[in-house]
Amino acid sequence: MSVGISYMGTKRELATTVSLVIADCQPGPILDVFSGMCSVGEAVAQSRQVWTNDIQVFAYEVAQALFTSQEHPLRSQAIADRYYDDFALAYGKLSSVYGSALEAEDAVMAASNFDEFERERRTLNVALDCCRQVAHPQKFHLFSKQYSDTFIGVRQALEIDAIVTSINSQLESSASFDHARWLTIALGRSMLRVSNTTGHFAQYLQPKIGNFRTFQRQRKRKIWQEFLEGSDEVNPVGNSLWRKNNKTFNSDTLLLLPKLLNEEERPAVIYADPPYTNDQYSRYYHLLDTLVLYDYPTMTGKGLYRPDRFSTNFSLKAKAATAMDSLVQSSAQLGSDIVLSYPSNGLVYSAGIDPLEILKRHYGTVEVCHSIGHDHSTFGASKGSAKSSVVEMIYRGRL
Ligand SMILES: C[S@@+](CC[C@H](N)C(=O)[O-])C[C@H]1O[C@@H](n2cnc3c(N)ncnc32)[C@H](O)[C@@H]1O
Repeated sequence: MSVGISYMGTKRELATTVSLVIADCQPGPILDVFSGMCSVGEAVAQSRQVWTNDIQVFAYEVAQALFTSQEHPLRSQAIADRYYDDFALAYGKLSSVYGSALEAEDAVMAASNFDEFERERRTLNVALDCCRQVAHPQKFHLFSKQYSDTFIGVRQALEIDAIVTSINSQLESSASFDHARWLTIALGRSMLRVSNTTGHFAQYLQPKIGNFRTFQRQRKRKIWQEFLEGSDEVNPVGNSLWRKNNKTFNSDTLLLLPKLLNEEERPAVIYADPPYTNDQYSRYYHLLDTLVLYDYPTMTGKGLYRPDRFSTNFSLKAKAATAMDSLVQSSAQLGSDIVLSYPSNGLVYSAGIDPLEILKRHYGTVEVCHSIGHDHSTFGASKGSAKSSVVEMIYRGRL
């Protein structure tokens, strides 16, 4: 795994099979229009140029790092050497504001039974309310102010802001945008790993008597440590010459494809792995987007969502089939072959429409290349269970 981030609906396990289907398409660039964590782009890498698109900004950052960056990520030793001083200075400034909350959080961590844990947590909430009123001494304090003791702990939130501060101060002096991007991805990965969630940010877990020790364990994890470890595990795909000619987009696919009609170079193949449930990705990965945008969003709902969350018709039962039809029609108009992944429990099927029929409307040669039994990770999303067994269909349309 190139960035090591587990992702809802990822095709990592099927990527090799998909890449073999793509291998039989016309030569030229492939555009993965719902690229997520880019498992298919990685699997076809080097055999052709890879273009990616995803509407979520963190997914876009991942695609740029993997497919277009010219510099390799820094490794942990170099990061510790170059970034630690700025990190420690920023952490010190933030802890002067959040001292009482940090102390209260230590008491929460030390609680040996649930009653004590709950009592210390109430003290922590009062302390946090006071700390949030104080004027913050430094520019980067978003996570401390807005997310302390939610998905992440107070200390963890301060660490995130302090790492962001260090990334930005190095960017102002000598670091490259590529390096800053790799570091932000490693930071996002560590944030996801330490958070009290089922693997995404739809909402955070409320500690109960049965799980408060797990909660304490997660809260004790150090972001700086996880961040360094993560930085040793992220890697670009292919060589820098190949990466120079790839492209990355951050658009709604249904708007992007018609725009490509005006371009001289067009994708030879479009790979589409659209959302297939009514779970909007913007609800699941918003904290990663906020890490990239760092724009102090007004938060709403149980999951502290961003106000500008994108909503896709692919995740609306009444509109999913029309969205798929527009996607397939635009691909055909571009003269691209299309490879489509769609599971048998997807919304288009539930609306009574067979994706094969949609492909036949726009493509001369259409086939079901594979139908594979596959365990989908739902991360306890709206369907409840962590894995659901479905048949994953892989369709191909050629003009
Ligand atoms: C099923 S996931 C793709 C997973 C990817 N194939 C992988 O292996 O990681 C769908 C992706 O589509 C993105 N997305 C949803 N609606 C979109 C739209 N209208 N345009 C572009 N991207 C969209 C989501 O952000 C999500 O990353």
